[in-house]
Amino acid sequence: MSAFDPHCSVPIALGERSYAIRIGNRLLADAAAYQAVPSGGQALIVTNTTVAPLYADKLAGALQSRHASVQTLVLPDGEKYKTWETLNLIFDQLLGQGADRKTTLYALGGGVVGDMTGFAAACYMRGVPFVQVPTTLLAQVDSSVGGKTAINHPLGKNMIGAFYQPLAVVCDLDALRTLPARELSAGLAEVIKYGPIADMAFFAWLEAHVDALRACDTKALAHAVQRSCEIKAEVVGQDEREAGLRAILNFGHTFGHAIEAGMGYGTWLHGEGVGAGMVMAAELSHALGLVDAAFVQRLRRLIERAGLPTRGAVIDSADNAGRYLQLMRVDKKAEGGEIRFVVIDGPGRAVVRRAPDELVRQVIEKCCV
Ligand code: NAD
Ligand code: GLY
Repeated sequence: MSAFDPHCSVPIALGERSYAIRIGNRLLADAAAYQAVPSGGQALIVTNTTVAPLYADKLAGALQSRHASVQTLVLPDGEKYKTWETLNLIFDQLLGQGADRKTTLYALGGGVVGDMTGFAAACYMRGVPFVQVPTTLLAQVDSSVGGKTAINHPLGKNMIGAFYQPLAVVCDLDALRTLPARELSAGLAEVIKYGPIADMAFFAWLEAHVDALRACDTKALAHAVQRSCEIKAEVVGQDEREAGLRAILNFGHTFGHAIEAGMGYGTWLHGEGVGAGMVMAAELSHALGLVDAAFVQRLRRLIERAGLPTRGAVIDSADNAGRYLQLMRVDKKAEGGEIRFVVIDGPGRAVVRRAPDELVRQVIEKCCV
């Protein structure tokens, strides 16, 4: 594990698509943080109604010297707007302002803005440069890194998208100070997941520092963001397009996505679905004989201390498990209609496995309120 550094840069090695994740304080408004972006050309900052009043002017100020013009597009806020209709607003703006292939998109916000802006950048004129400026913990530790971009479909989460890497990721820890407590907890779900799948020493560190993280302690946040990005960079560096290994980053997501879609996007936060989903995936790992009950309990306890739900939602009162199974068959890891789960194959190690429907039903019945 690398030493704590309040201003650090985590490299993501992808050949000609390599870039750096900058992590530190006061970065968002620092022109030097955007040096990886070729100067000249137009810039479009894509953000939302919540983040724009907080940070759009600061970012625009930092970009003035780099770009011929800097414009800002403010989207509606929320997971339920991660749609074709909202994506089209970005294309409307780009075409309306006469954006060419040298126009750089800046995604300023959480994972919703980041995923949509990245997808727009992948599509507009078959690809224009983009930069991630994540302002939620979840986006800093996960969604801004690795080039997965997407929008939702009513039948499935993140189903329409592309792999498209940013030129740079700029994580300003100060931005996390304005984040509501519920959103900070949602981000902790994606931090916690790195423990069971890759690094139990980090998991133990999280057990010792979860209260400091929830109190927005800068030093603790810096370490959590840095270590999470290091693990993600290592996985993505080996398997950019999820031929195999990268699927482990979806620990808890198969159940979590079913909760998000089943409850209606935006009812449960993505991180909340992942929190409960990790407990369900750990219970499934136990039911498959891969981990003991003490491990499941240890994970459940940390998720609870992070302020996250540890029980799944009831998404269908008539046939709850059946509805989960139906939604989970739309998961991107599914093959030939068979669901594949990320399970823990011993603490710190994850694998992708099929599981009998009957066993999955038992886990769902055990885990849902
Ligand atoms: P989000 O983007 O909806 O942001 C959460 C809320 O916080 C929003 O209301 C937002 O406006 C607000 N916000 C953002 N920054 C703020 C700040 N600094 N201060 C105050 N409020 C702020 O949600 P999220 O949790 O960041 O991201 C979830 C999304 O990310 C989901 O759509 C999920 O599918 C996606 N995701 C993608 C990947 C990937 O690899 N691409 C990985 C994980 C999650
Ligand atoms: N968030 C999962 C991934 O990037 O692969």
